[in-house]
Amino acid sequence: MSTPLVVAIDGPSGSGKSSTSRGVATRLGLAYLDTGAMYRAMTWALLQAGVDVDDPAAVAAAAEHVDVRSGTDPLDPTIHVGDTDVSGPIRGDRVTAAVSPVATVPRVRELLVDLQRRAIAASDGIVVEGRDIGTVVAPDAAVKIYLVADPTARAARRAAEQGGADAAATEASLARRDEIDSSRAASPLTKADGATVVDSTFLTLDEVIDAIVGIVESR
Ligand code: DC
Repeated sequence: MSTPLVVAIDGPSGSGKSSTSRGVATRLGLAYLDTGAMYRAMTWALLQAGVDVDDPAAVAAAAEHVDVRSGTDPLDPTIHVGDTDVSGPIRGDRVTAAVSPVATVPRVRELLVDLQRRAIAASDGIVVEGRDIGTVVAPDAAVKIYLVADPTARAARRAAEQGGADAAATEASLARRDEIDSSRAASPLTKADGATVVDSTFLTLDEVIDAIVGIVESR
């Protein structure tokens, strides 16, 4: 059995990773895995269970019992905890505010990285988006992309997605999450060796997808 084609797409919040990754997967007929949604689903379950997300030992202990299930169809990416569809609540403010501290807990990362590697192994080719895909989850990925964008552009996009939220407040919240994600000890956000940097600041979504599809096809 040959190893499946893996396209790893890492980068900070708001760089356009999700729309880009789904678009690339759809164009290339590949599966798609949103690992950020998995950290969000874990966070939702812990909040639901009343766990103090700022207590790493409590988070690590409770995480063992959380059953995160990800669908890998880029046209219909699903996310469940057990049988509960959590695709709506994981995008809410409560989860968004709590997800970075949860994602710093090493045991949470071990559990979710294990699930991610299983999904990759079970696929016939997959686009995987996150923060540590090229560095930790799939360091042997055939294609590694580090997707970046100017912070103001990222905040403007996020605010528009959220129906015209305050762009300045969104930029501050993104900056806070970037700081936690980039400075944590366990698998910080950083460009992987061999990753190609794609800057989406001045590109449309289709242009970013074209650029990455071009990189995959010319490998
Ligand atoms: O991509 P996102 O905003 O949905 O990610 C939510 C959080 O999960 C983000 O703060 C960083 C964390 N995350 C991570 O630590 N590792 C990943 N592979 C994906 C996301």
